[in-house]
Amino acid sequence: MSLSSPILLGIESSCDDTAAAVVVGGVLQSSIVSSQAIHERFGGVVPELASRAHQRLIVPVVEAALEEAGVGKHDLDAVAVTYGPGLAGSLLVGLSFAKALALGLGIPLVGVNHLEGHLYSVFIEDPKPPLPYLCLTVSGGHTQLVLVQENFQHDVLGTTRDDAAGEAFDKVAKMLGLGYPGGPVIDRLAGDGDPSFQNFPRTRLGGAEGPFDFSFSGIKTAVLYYLNRFSDAEREALLADHLPDIAASFQTAVVEVLVGALRDAARATGVEAVAVVGGVSANSQLRREAQAMADEERLGLFIPKPAYSVDNAAMIAVTGHVKWAAGIESPLSLSAVPALAVSE
Ligand code: KG4
Ligand code: ZN
Repeated sequence: MSLSSPILLGIESSCDDTAAAVVVGGVLQSSIVSSQAIHERFGGVVPELASRAHQRLIVPVVEAALEEAGVGKHDLDAVAVTYGPGLAGSLLVGLSFAKALALGLGIPLVGVNHLEGHLYSVFIEDPKPPLPYLCLTVSGGHTQLVLVQENFQHDVLGTTRDDAAGEAFDKVAKMLGLGYPGGPVIDRLAGDGDPSFQNFPRTRLGGAEGPFDFSFSGIKTAVLYYLNRFSDAEREALLADHLPDIAASFQTAVVEVLVGALRDAARATGVEAVAVVGGVSANSQLRREAQAMADEERLGLFIPKPAYSVDNAAMIAVTGHVKWAAGIESPLSLSAVPALAVSE
């Protein structure tokens, strides 16, 4: 144990990925993610199966993270863990494990908000963004535009009123007969498609409470109505000929909305840096268009590499390190909070 190079274990189990990571002095040493393939056949995450799989995977995943980092459990100075938002049964597995470990080793527990973890995922690698920066979190469960300031102050400027961006990708992929998760496959198909094949709606909301609020259910429903215009046989022929074009048209609509909101919010707040995080930030068109916008607006753009965009424990360990270094620890009575907001 060393005060200059504290060793922290991070644990993440909020949804369907069981993950553990080790940081030494805030620098990542290992990151292990075990994704639960069992949900693919159901076209979405089945909560009960997710918690059972976490239960099975948590010990080997933590052991693998410690081994890859070359540290033993007795070397740990603290354990950071996601306590919300997420699926209750999934959160409880990681949180209970982390509490037991902290109690057994006599080390502090640091509860980390999963959304905060995504916000700080841009601190896993260099270069790191300057504070304040504007962060667009786009995942299967969340779509938020957050101003990240000093001392863990997070101002939510916009959020989705219905579906998250990743959820829209997953639902549209299902309508098109593609697998789960839908984002990566739509991304791949869209690369060969014509984005002007169909003009799906670009919905932006506003208002005092969420000046940059989003809605993705309209785009999703527009794709559904478009497909329902055809008979089964016609739809089969349409998809055989134009699947990449439909994927490209849908993806372009979503990306335009996201990048447009990021640009407008950057102008409104006057930040010098923007970030895009969460599973959907792995999207190649989103990365490309966010870069083009940032170049035009002379903004620094920070996007974690895909392994740290999707759910992972590296972001929990890094955020845990920053909190722990700031003297923030959690009691062992910490509860899982499935609906935890980013600013809580
Ligand atoms: O952050 P994440 O791993 O889990 C949540 O916290 O939700 O995000 C998963 C989401 C899924 O909806 C998936 O379809 C989407 O990220 N996703 C993508 C891509 N890769 C993953 N969406 C669009 N393009 C991608 N390349
Ligand atoms: Zn996430």
